[in-house]
Amino acid sequence: MENSWATFGRDLHLDLTGPGGLRAALLRALRDAVRSGRLAPGTRLPSSRSLAADLGIARNTVADAYTELVAEGWLSARQGSGTRVAERLLPRAAPAARRAPGPGPGPAGRADRPRFALTPGTPDVSAFPRTAWLAAARRALTAAPSEAFGYHTSYGRPELRTVLADYLARARGVRADPDRIVICAGFLQGLALLSRVLGTGRLAVESYGLDFHRAVITRAGLRTVPLPVDERGARTGELTALDDVRGALLTPAHQFPTGVPLHPDRRAAAINWARATGGFILEDDYDGEFRYDRKPVGALQGLDPDHVVYLGTASKSLAPALRLAWMVLPERLVDPVLALKGTGEWQSGALDQLTLAEFLSSGAYDRHLRGMRLRYRRRRDQLVAALADHAPQVQVSGIAAGLHAVLELPPGTEQAVLQAARRQGLALEGLSRFRDPAAPPAARDALVVAYGTPPDHSFAGAVDALLRALPPGE
Ligand SMILES: Cc1ncc(COP(=O)(O)O)c(C=O)c1O
Repeated sequence: MENSWATFGRDLHLDLTGPGGLRAALLRALRDAVRSGRLAPGTRLPSSRSLAADLGIARNTVADAYTELVAEGWLSARQGSGTRVAERLLPRAAPAARRAPGPGPGPAGRADRPRFALTPGTPDVSAFPRTAWLAAARRALTAAPSEAFGYHTSYGRPELRTVLADYLARARGVRADPDRIVICAGFLQGLALLSRVLGTGRLAVESYGLDFHRAVITRAGLRTVPLPVDERGARTGELTALDDVRGALLTPAHQFPTGVPLHPDRRAAAINWARATGGFILEDDYDGEFRYDRKPVGALQGLDPDHVVYLGTASKSLAPALRLAWMVLPERLVDPVLALKGTGEWQSGALDQLTLAEFLSSGAYDRHLRGMRLRYRRRRDQLVAALADHAPQVQVSGIAAGLHAVLELPPGTEQAVLQAARRQGLALEGLSRFRDPAAPPAARDALVVAYGTPPDHSFAGAVDALLRALPPGE
């Protein structure tokens, strides 16, 4: 609910006494007002000019305090709607037991909430193209046939499957027929469905990957077996030596998290294995649209659409909250996947699907991607330059694509650097966090630095905090 009574600075009753100068006093007073609930979530604050005039202090002091409180998550600032108390402030004094595990910016209590995050997972969600999405939603809603508002099939909307077929062929080299495309609620739902369709046996996974992806696979009744990853990607040649393997989950365009593309020999080995055994490659193309230095690496699926399931998602290119993703299936998997999905009541909302279809066909998606590529590329370059200047001993890799980079650390220092980052108020992940515990131990210490995650205004602060956390050079 909108609450904008705090238009006048004098109504805020801010006490600017106390130690540390006016700026510190103002920060303290505003935090207290929010913490005590006197300033409710959504409340619009006066402009920095008018608050400064009311309090009789410099405008810069107020503007600086607002900026800092936005970076800390107490306030939010949006063009055209001023500065407000953040909507999603967490319950006061969250009990320790309910805090999110790990260093990510989860629902932790405010006191230990990191100021900055370079953790992988989300893109810069502050850059969601709200205006263009709203325009597409309006057009989609106006044109939607009445039947779109009823129950719909587990396939997903035909409008979306049709434009995706064209888009994926053009942008990712996917051989897609709309009848082989099934819409799913995120890559994760696609993976869950496919794991259940594959039934029993084993699914090979890259030795570095996401633990909750492995968990989804095992919950479906499959066992996972790690495939080693090196500087050419997953060692797919080793698939032939494994028994009882129904498929392999790979990130060919940009291995997550090490950042390397799958070498052409390894791509061929994966396809050969699938053809020889009747197995499937599950191609997770989570950030394939973000490639900076060369032409995009085309999808593996283009080599053999009968043995590769292509999985794409809007989670990196638009927002994870949409829960919109797509599978391009080999013919023989279409009916089993639809049958399973149909019984699960797991459908993505039709209106969002129609909006995405309109967003794609109107060219808004291409425009958005072009803008985001520039933004992320600029950040990547800033990160690389800052490291070259201040930490030349740290080697960076995996930077040709995606939204994250890998920073190699001296052996045995990863945990200490993560701790130092926490002390700097920076949420960060080490490479070891992504290692499959079933894989043989690897002596590789590194950081997975997701430069795509923070909003623009806190990126420089996040990089500074990172530099302070890195071990000193020789
Ligand atoms: C490796 C990997 N795969 C897939 C996804 C997308 O998952 P979803 O579509 O379920 O949001 C992500 C998103 O962060 C990812 O990092």
